[in-house]
Amino acid sequence: MTNTEPVYDRIGVGYADRRRPDPRIAAHIAAALGDARTVLNVGAGTGSYELPDRSWVGVDPSEVMIRQRPRGSAPVVRGVAEALPFATAAFDAAIALLSLQHWSDPKGGLAELARVSRRQVVLTWDVEFYASNFWFVRDYVPEMSEWERSVATLDTARALMEPTRIEPVPVPHDCTDGFGGAYWRRPEAYLDPEVRASISGLALMTDGIAGRAVKRLEADLRSGAWHERNAELLDLDELDVGYRLVIADR
Ligand SMILES: C[S@@+](CC[C@H](N)C(=O)[O-])C[C@H]1O[C@@H](n2cnc3c(N)ncnc32)[C@H](O)[C@@H]1O
Repeated sequence: MTNTEPVYDRIGVGYADRRRPDPRIAAHIAAALGDARTVLNVGAGTGSYELPDRSWVGVDPSEVMIRQRPRGSAPVVRGVAEALPFATAAFDAAIALLSLQHWSDPKGGLAELARVSRRQVVLTWDVEFYASNFWFVRDYVPEMSEWERSVATLDTARALMEPTRIEPVPVPHDCTDGFGGAYWRRPEAYLDPEVRASISGLALMTDGIAGRAVKRLEADLRSGAWHERNAELLDLDELDVGYRLVIADR
């Protein structure tokens, strides 16, 4: 393995099984795209959220992710946000869903999205909100925030995109897309190594830290301490965990 190998060639195995697009999140994304007919999906991965009512093209650096796109998916090219192989204003919209945090040059990548499209839609998260409100990070893996603070998330998108609007994306209690905050009402899920493998902030962390966090969570679930501390969550159908859609029009 070399340093230039796309990170998702390593951590993206099995992604399509555990990161299935969630219809309620899809509705938020569709509203943000508005009347855009042609959409470039940057960091498209396995093609989640490329709903057939629009014309899509995907771009992603990882062969492992591209190979998991279902048969009949939109065309995809291998490439990176920082150097999009498309003409200026080629698309109505460009979208990047939970991908910005992996870019080596977020400023260059976001400028590329604005070059090739008239609307840009970025799904990212508010690291500080997530760190202080989401029990899994706050009480078990605060170390995850260290990595998150070192990469591009909401603050970067807000500073660089001159957004028209920023919208919260609440997470349904039975969310089918297994990103970091998806299991806020299903704590046992984080005990499953396959679930953790599909959450990049955990997959990129040393086994020791994640292992200790999981042991503490397991003990709290067994003793009832987790339920005592988080009882109010069990009555909620959705929760704002900190995910945000950043929408800009150039
Ligand atoms: C968490 S996955 C999200 C995939 C998809 N957008 C989704 O919502 O399921 C992050 C994706 O970003 C891709 N990625 C990483 N670095 C990138 C870059 N510099 N430019 C574009 N995509 C990148 C990864 O290969 C991976 O497929």
